[in-house]
Amino acid sequence: MPNIQSLIEELHSKYQSHTEGSPASYIPELAKANPNHFAIVITTISGEIYKIGDTENTFSLQSTSKPFTYGMVLENFGREFVLSKVGVEPTGEAFNSIVELEKQTHRPYNPMINSGAIAVSSLIKGNNFEDRFKKVMSLFETYVGHSLSIDEHVFESEKKTAHRNRSIAHLLRHFDVIDDKIEESLDLYFKQCSILASTRDLSMMAATLANNGIHPVTKKVAVQEKYVGDMLSLMFTCGMYDSSGEWAYSVGIPAKSGVSGGIFGVIPGKMGIAVFSPPIDDKGHSVRGVEVFKDLSHKLNLSIFRVGNNHVS
Ligand code: DON
Repeated sequence: MPNIQSLIEELHSKYQSHTEGSPASYIPELAKANPNHFAIVITTISGEIYKIGDTENTFSLQSTSKPFTYGMVLENFGREFVLSKVGVEPTGEAFNSIVELEKQTHRPYNPMINSGAIAVSSLIKGNNFEDRFKKVMSLFETYVGHSLSIDEHVFESEKKTAHRNRSIAHLLRHFDVIDDKIEESLDLYFKQCSILASTRDLSMMAATLANNGIHPVTKKVAVQEKYVGDMLSLMFTCGMYDSSGEWAYSVGIPAKSGVSGGIFGVIPGKMGIAVFSPPIDDKGHSVRGVEVFKDLSHKLNLSIFRVGNNHVS
């Protein structure tokens, strides 16, 4: 096994000069991101951290938050009920697809795309918005092991421009997937997307999943062990949207991306990996992030499908 610290340093210098892609702009505030920011962090299940680059810079989690709230509603309502609202099939469509609801049930196909994540947000328990929002924050704080805040500018920017997500939410209301609190569900979703975390935090969240839901350092349970497999399998089949097949082929680990430039991957029983770099490709994934994950998978033998000299190089 190569030395992890030297490997990530090598990959950081290999991809730092790559200039493909650009920061997301459909949420205007995200377009202000510095395209040169680039960080790689690996956290093992015993809490060792290997890091390089802008690892302490914070960014809004965006869609990297989706698996975590899914885990929380599974705990609150159980599999059967959650499955009645959101399916577990990949779509082959973009993350913000409007047309894709299951033909018979009208459920969103899965919780990793926006329609599924909005349905998940509508299920967050609590007496009122503040109470529900507190539950979300405390969930993410348990995963990272410290307090967190929201990027209010990103939140407002998304809320103001979210005509597409708003239309998805109304479609979900039409089919009785979500209740009448449409704007509240959307706000909860936009808030979770606006949570500020660093690449180091994201890798700790990934390591917590790799450690069966237990934070490697605080030892607090972030999610019950029995739901970790639900989260990881959905990340694996749907986490990279319409490039999930390509990801399985070339990387081969459960992962989730976000349009602000974060990608995290989980190696169960071993480690969590997070890469951050704002320029994204046309599917919404960090360009440098995808390249780093491909190389890491190859060099550290991470793919669940490939052993020995069987890698896509
Ligand atoms: O709903 C949206 O459009 C954003 N808040 C999140 C999208 C996202 O991160 C897609 N991932 N690559």
